[in-house]
Amino acid sequence: NYYAIIMAGGIGSRFWPISRTSHPKQFIDILGTGKTLIQNTYDRFLKVCPKENIYVVTNENYTDLVKTQLPDMADNQILTEPVMRNTAPCVAYGCFKIESMNPDAAIVVAPSDHLILDEAAFITTIEKSLKTASENDLLITLGIKPSRPDTGYGYIQYTDQTLNDDFHKVKTFTEKPTLEIAKTFLQSGDFLWNAGIFVWSAKAIVDSFNQHLPEMHEIFAEARSVYNTDEEKAFVHKVYQRCINISIDYGIMEKAPNVYVLPSEFGWSDLGTWASIYQLAEKDYVGNAVIPADKVIMYDSSNCMVNVPEGKLVIIKGLHDFIVVESDNILMISPRSEEQGVKQVVADVKQQF
Ligand code: GDD
Ligand code: MG
Repeated sequence: NYYAIIMAGGIGSRFWPISRTSHPKQFIDILGTGKTLIQNTYDRFLKVCPKENIYVVTNENYTDLVKTQLPDMADNQILTEPVMRNTAPCVAYGCFKIESMNPDAAIVVAPSDHLILDEAAFITTIEKSLKTASENDLLITLGIKPSRPDTGYGYIQYTDQTLNDDFHKVKTFTEKPTLEIAKTFLQSGDFLWNAGIFVWSAKAIVDSFNQHLPEMHEIFAEARSVYNTDEEKAFVHKVYQRCINISIDYGIMEKAPNVYVLPSEFGWSDLGTWASIYQLAEKDYVGNAVIPADKVIMYDSSNCMVNVPEGKLVIIKGLHDFIVVESDNILMISPRSEEQGVKQVVADVKQQF
């Protein structure tokens, strides 16, 4: 009864120019490990449930990328969206479809673009959560101990009230707070970051859509008669336009009363910025991380993050603490300290070219 849904329709704009609308971060081997992020995500879930029970939800434009990178997936397991509407419709589509086949399903929903270093701990955590979710009517999310007042995460305030020892009842869920608020959360000590990995029974999440996003519930419940038929794709294509653009965090998690968090530790990083990639990448003795390193020559340079196309001859001299990234004829050079600004740069560039 265990299922997994991989969310893979985002565009990862902070990783520009490597991550592009045509080729987002989840389809890239961003750490140079030999596998893309979505391939690693898929491989992890193979250890939790049978391969027939793994689904990917992605934009139509990425269907070919998914098929190429995950050749074991059947067409019926690749759910496509005609437009980007953030994660709430993506979760609804996947969960309602699974519910229509198996009302007793327990489902883990996860991003396609995260790094998990301790795979064994991750699998234990997911199995424990799936078990608890199949026995109780609740929404589980995994929580990570925060280390800085990052405004790119959801924050979970938990209580001492527990279920099965480890699952804490959530008091408040705040998606992407302001820096000021994030700082107070960190000081208070009873907050965790939302890892964006959710576990629930098909029944619990369908009920939550009914309560908190009733219009979306109606759309995907209406589709029940066409799931797994030839009409599914055309029907979904048509009704998707009607979905509002909202994330599962804003749409459901902030509002639902039955949310539990499992404080977790499995070497998690959402690889959210070039700095986080730099931190994790293998570095030489002067702190340069170069992916791939085949033809990059560095003189008198240190603490740089270099990511250029394979085979490209690159010579860098006298450069310290910079990001140098090239992809598809776009070259970006920027101080590492300013890498949060990449999102803005992308917006500017898109307006001008
Ligand atoms: N199918 C589909 N369609 N997938 C999507 C869409 C969409 O329209 N938008 C985003 N995704 C996918 C992304 O590819 C990613 O794998 C996942 O859904 C999460 O979306 P992000 O856009 O990366 O969310 P976020 O990082 O801003 O915030 C979420 O993750 C944080 C942890 O990394 C939230 O859950 C936060 O609360 C959480 O802290
Ligand atoms: Mg993310």
